[in-house]
Amino acid sequence: MAEPTKAAPLQAVKGMNDILPPESAHWEWLEARLRDLMRRYGYADVRTPLVEPTPLFERGLGDATDVVEKEMYSFVDAMNGDPLTLRPENTAGVVRATAQHNLLYDGGKRLFYIGPMFRHERPQKGRYRQFHQFGVEALGHAGPDVDAEQILMCRALWRELGLVEGRDVHLEINSLGQPAERQAHRDALIAHFERHAPLLDENSRDRLHRNPLRLLDSKHPPMQPLIESAPRLIDQLGAASLAHLGAVRAVLDAAGLAYRINPRLVRGLDYYNLTVFEWTTERLGSQATVCGGGRYDGLMERVGGKPAPAVGFALGIERLLLLLGETGNLPAPRAPDAYAVVPSQAVLAPALIAIEALRAAGVSVVMHAASAAGWGSMKSQFKRADASGARYALVFGDSEVAQRQVAVKPLRDAQALQALRPLDGVAAWADELRNA
Ligand code: HAM
Repeated sequence: MAEPTKAAPLQAVKGMNDILPPESAHWEWLEARLRDLMRRYGYADVRTPLVEPTPLFERGLGDATDVVEKEMYSFVDAMNGDPLTLRPENTAGVVRATAQHNLLYDGGKRLFYIGPMFRHERPQKGRYRQFHQFGVEALGHAGPDVDAEQILMCRALWRELGLVEGRDVHLEINSLGQPAERQAHRDALIAHFERHAPLLDENSRDRLHRNPLRLLDSKHPPMQPLIESAPRLIDQLGAASLAHLGAVRAVLDAAGLAYRINPRLVRGLDYYNLTVFEWTTERLGSQATVCGGGRYDGLMERVGGKPAPAVGFALGIERLLLLLGETGNLPAPRAPDAYAVVPSQAVLAPALIAIEALRAAGVSVVMHAASAAGWGSMKSQFKRADASGARYALVFGDSEVAQRQVAVKPLRDAQALQALRPLDGVAAWADELRNA
């Protein structure tokens, strides 16, 4: 009989990462911190589909944005012809869900999510094709109070994670005003760039009339002086927009939070108005933006809902974890409390019953598992116990078990003595194994 041909090894899609232990413990830890933060700010978990109708993003994010023009994983559902897209961000999805389920019927809602997003970008450190965001969206609130609260919430998070503002992360804010102000600014920008048309690169020429704001993001060297001298939106803001920005600033100033007003901060998506902000870092190379957001009062209407003001932000989990790694703020791996040494099949049942009782009492116990060759020597089991990082070995030797006992051997403290503990009534001594 012919040998079956060996299947070629399959790999994950480029730019999409497996998150494996021990690193996955950092994710779990961070997610728990984020959920606890959300509890304290009164934000509720929202889980929307990873796949949405493509027009949601085309309409919501703006069709002259990088994300919509070239980064979306869009496809036609072969079963029914529907145009679908893997979500490149989740503000549009949350707004869609809010409108669809009429969530604002009894007032504003504060929502958050943690989950994967998909953008077909060129992968590099801090930039992936499947990446993860923690995002918050406050819907139905018009005032600058919620903008300010969200920015302070970011600061609270940085502090709780051990990051230092001004050293590890920096805040920039801007106001994008209201649609009429942006229209006036847009006209002024088009006129400005048209006067210098020969200096524009092809992409910028292409976008000039569709989305002149995006030209301010251009990295094309000959355009840099033009960008510097371009009319600034902040100079064209009316009294109401300035008052909104002033109110946000007043809170930040009073709270002693340092920030830079960056009139060039436009964000990469088209739904924003009034307050926009970004937290950047100098520690991650070119992927410097850890967190970004702002107000998007017009998005609800754009996706077909009843008009409602809203503000939110999202941070990149991968970037935040990279940053926490750089600053040495990731927690040490958590070892099990105990490792169970099981010398033979004969003691398996009583050992497992005792281990189950310990686990029920909150102790983490890793049981030595037999291999095809058997249980392995005591020596090799102790080696495993040591490598596991556990503080105790539970030794279920034949003679101990015959007397309904287990030997509890401290592994990390050379002075501490081994003790015998009863297999019955495990709850009475479980606490001594538990890590405080
Ligand atoms: P965004 O600025 O496109 O905003 O993304 C927010 C954050 O997600 C970025 O600051 C970055 O940390 C992370 N991120 C973006 N793309 C990638 C990538 N390819 N790889 C790794 N991390 C990435 C939004 O998505 C808005 N929805 C934020 C928002 C919420 N605005 C209002 N509400």
